Amino acid sequence: MSSESTTHCPLLLLLLLLLFLAGSGSAAAASSSLPSHDGDRHHSLLSEEQQQVERFQQYLRVRTAHPNPDYAAAVAFLSDQARSVGLLFQTFEFVPGKPLLLLTWPGADPSLPSILLNSHMDSVPVEPDKWLHPPFAAHRDADGRIYARGAQDDKCLAVQYLEALRALRSDPSFVPLRSIHVSLVPDEEIGGRDGAARFAASEEFRRLKVGFVLDEGQASPTDEFRVFYADRTPWWLIVKAHGAPGHGSKMYDGSAVENLMETMETVARFRDSQFDLVKAGLKAASEVISVNPVYMKAGTPSPTGFVMNMQPSECEAGFDMRLPPTADPDLVRRRVSEEWAPISRSLTYEVASLEEGMVMLTSQADHEVLRASTHALSFGKPHSVSASLQGQRLPSISEKGPIRDHAGRPLVTATNETNPWWTVFNQAIGASGAKLAKPEILSSTTDARFMRIMGIPTLGFSPMANTPILLHEHNEFLKDTVFLKGIRVYENIIRSLSTLPADPL
Ligand SMILES: *[C@@H]1O[C@H](CO)[C@@H](O)[C@H](O)[C@H]1NC(C)=O
Repeated sequence: MSSESTTHCPLLLLLLLLLFLAGSGSAAAASSSLPSHDGDRHHSLLSEEQQQVERFQQYLRVRTAHPNPDYAAAVAFLSDQARSVGLLFQTFEFVPGKPLLLLTWPGADPSLPSILLNSHMDSVPVEPDKWLHPPFAAHRDADGRIYARGAQDDKCLAVQYLEALRALRSDPSFVPLRSIHVSLVPDEEIGGRDGAARFAASEEFRRLKVGFVLDEGQASPTDEFRVFYADRTPWWLIVKAHGAPGHGSKMYDGSAVENLMETMETVARFRDSQFDLVKAGLKAASEVISVNPVYMKAGTPSPTGFVMNMQPSECEAGFDMRLPPTADPDLVRRRVSEEWAPISRSLTYEVASLEEGMVMLTSQADHEVLRASTHALSFGKPHSVSASLQGQRLPSISEKGPIRDHAGRPLVTATNETNPWWTVFNQAIGASGAKLAKPEILSSTTDARFMRIMGIPTLGFSPMANTPILLHEHNEFLKDTVFLKGIRVYENIIRSLSTLPADPL
């Protein structure tokens, strides 16, 4: 398999470079304009911050929005930065055209579990005419807002990691005990299958001995940073209904649309029960199982629209479901097969998982059964025939395990003293003069789940306080001061995590 050989012989560009102060290469051209250490401290800080903001703007101008992310340009920019910081870097192409850049600062004791800082290079598409400023110009307004697709989600992270490492490398007294890795990955916004998923499952990843991962979080409208210890797992459910076709004027039981309507009603009741918990303040939106209808397909097309005097024999509906790690996937599966899409009502279903990008669960009915039941139904004895079919063919549902890690544990990172990484992370935030809000489950899904599947503690964190949540929205922006504060926060976090002694683990 070509992808196999790519995996085992990555395009290895292993380059050890000098400290950026040594001054060679294009990025050093920028650093040569840095004021000397002897210069006025206040002025030099401002000037350095100005350059950090400019580097952020440069990265934002690289067009990595879907559907055609320019990964080559992103890798070129980030490698250049890594070179100027003095990091090792290598590129993997687990899938051709989808490079993954790995930066490394080897620790004094590389045998210890390392830390990994992850950020995705891609971003979601834009509708440029809906923006105040062009979405790839990285325009900075008078208040310091930098407008660009990816400003929050999550190109800020890559540059903040790099700038924090740049600062740490310029401190001669700092030596990381553990190796520090930064992964810049493709395709997070389209599921991560060809990016972080491949990486986390690779031999290269195993060799990094990653002990702890930081990945993206979300902006916080308050002055507390948010942190996420789990993602919800998406299930995409497609329910197909079958039934006897009939004249539009005839009332009878078991038409396909009637069968599907029952599903819609049953699902709606379940949805209400979950939503009520949120409305009553008993649970956060990310702590319940969400299910939302996203499409319905029915009707017999005619040249002018749909045939109006005929009840169709097939129709289907799609639902986006999100399961928190506390949900029992077996119970949910049973609910789907017994209540939402029972074969007794000639319903079949598929559940697609983002993780696998393939059908994860399917109902039992093979095509023979389906044809038989549809045929039988059309002769007017739907219930007895379906029941006997159900008796013959019991559900055989296969499960891939994305809701549990490789050891069968829920995909949750402990945020208490049982997790020493958490303790150190939490203390480092405090030492930065910042506050953390109560840890949350993320409503949506990020690459963090691929690391948690490997059993590695992983937190979602983007240091953006007092910032509106604008990911995937028009006019996504991040304020320069918030961006700069994040660099200092990461400096503290990386310093603490990478010097965590072996003992507590
Ligand atoms: C720590 O957190 C984990 C994961 O949420 C939980 O299973 C465990 O019971 C907690 N332990 C303590 C001592 O609170």
